[in-house]
Amino acid sequence: MSDMTERIKEMTAHTYGTWGRQNAWSTPLLITDAEGVYFYDNTGKRYLDFSSQLMCSNLGHKNKVVIEAIVKQAEKLPYAAPGFATEILIEAVEALRSVFPEKLSKFFFSTSGTAANEAAMKMLRQYKFPAYKVISRYHSYHGATAVGQSFTGDPRRWYAELARTVVDGVVFAPDNYCYRCPFGITYPECNVQCARYLDYMIKEEGNVAAIIVEPIVGTNGRQIPPPEYYPIIRRICDEHGVLLVCDEVMSGWFRTGKTFAIEHWDVLPDILTTAKGASAAYTPVAITASTQEVADFFDEEVFCHGHTFAYHALAASAIPAAISEHVRLFDSGLPQKASQYIKQKLYELADKHICIGDVRGVGHFWALEIVKNRKTKEPFDTKKDKFSGKALTTGKIAGDAMQNGLYISAWYDTLVITPPLIINEQEIDEAIHILDKSLEIADKEAVETDVAASRSCDYSS
Ligand SMILES: Cc1ncc(COP(=O)(O)O)c(C=O)c1O
Repeated sequence: MSDMTERIKEMTAHTYGTWGRQNAWSTPLLITDAEGVYFYDNTGKRYLDFSSQLMCSNLGHKNKVVIEAIVKQAEKLPYAAPGFATEILIEAVEALRSVFPEKLSKFFFSTSGTAANEAAMKMLRQYKFPAYKVISRYHSYHGATAVGQSFTGDPRRWYAELARTVVDGVVFAPDNYCYRCPFGITYPECNVQCARYLDYMIKEEGNVAAIIVEPIVGTNGRQIPPPEYYPIIRRICDEHGVLLVCDEVMSGWFRTGKTFAIEHWDVLPDILTTAKGASAAYTPVAITASTQEVADFFDEEVFCHGHTFAYHALAASAIPAAISEHVRLFDSGLPQKASQYIKQKLYELADKHICIGDVRGVGHFWALEIVKNRKTKEPFDTKKDKFSGKALTTGKIAGDAMQNGLYISAWYDTLVITPPLIINEQEIDEAIHILDKSLEIADKEAVETDVAASRSCDYSS
């Protein structure tokens, strides 16, 4: 065993691995370098990053403009207590205002998506007092701490519930999951029942303060609602005086082709949370944005919230640079062209591989849902299997791809196709070529039927 392997094992023995049994946290791959859409391990092996690490390295790796901005700030003033103004905070707020919808005009800075949602919870419960309930959806993830887990619909919440680390007052609504509609109906005949049902829920629940949504669901499937969905929800919220909170931690920052995913529906939330792409993952920074109406409430009320690292200067230093780099990138037209190419290539893969049940997404935000049987939609693995220790089929596909130099994040039922926004057609071809081979693993265990892959979120077809 090499000295480095020993040291990795020593390190993992003394650290908690995230979201898993600790005996599986033993010898993670040692990443030593990264540039563009690639990263490298300590043997020099190259991997194409088809998931932007944790769906956050939107500008790829080693962006010089962002790095220079961070270095400049590190040399000048890495930190000042949150009660002070800093020049970089002034610049960051100016930069945010240049891309945020005008209505979302007041910001709180923290250091993770989870923390952004914690701040949102305090804002909405104080603002809507005595109403306190929040409606979330089952296919969702909103963070790792008590509030984030309470909002979360996916199986990570089950563990937080067992540990009694959830807050009360969160209820769950049916998802806009057209491939497996919880009402068993089909768009457009469904009349978008999943949105309309929220009116019933609000009336029956009572004391509802807010609805929280990932406008396009991230980890839990890239479900894109039909055009009517968010306008209906906005109307229902307005009729009942309920706030709409959009968690754009993953779907924000141009990943779907717009600054924020909710802009595809021409709808605005009352509170928007975001992180990840806000710095293109170069620094840990997160933002909770509210309308002026919510903000005004706190003029005479205590906003009883803050952190030592709130408005951290070094964290904020990446924001203006990341925004200008995103704007420059989209001005070049590369991401717009590449996203069409990704779509075409994923549709081709879906035509070829019987294990792909559904292909859905937009921009650089795609999911391949892997199934055993396209006709019955029988899945290989379920939510319950996620933390059971079972070897998941999506994991086998991603593992094989990794062996062949392609990094793809996998959930229990979907592959997460979220490359950096700088990816070009040649790099997409390289990724698709590897993925094409790896999908054969699941094809061998899938049942041949006469049913084609579904494109459940392509409302144009
Ligand atoms: C939609 C969404 N909300 C919140 C979070 C939590 O963000 P963080 O991991 O930065 O705390 C995530 C993380 O993946 C996310 O995807």
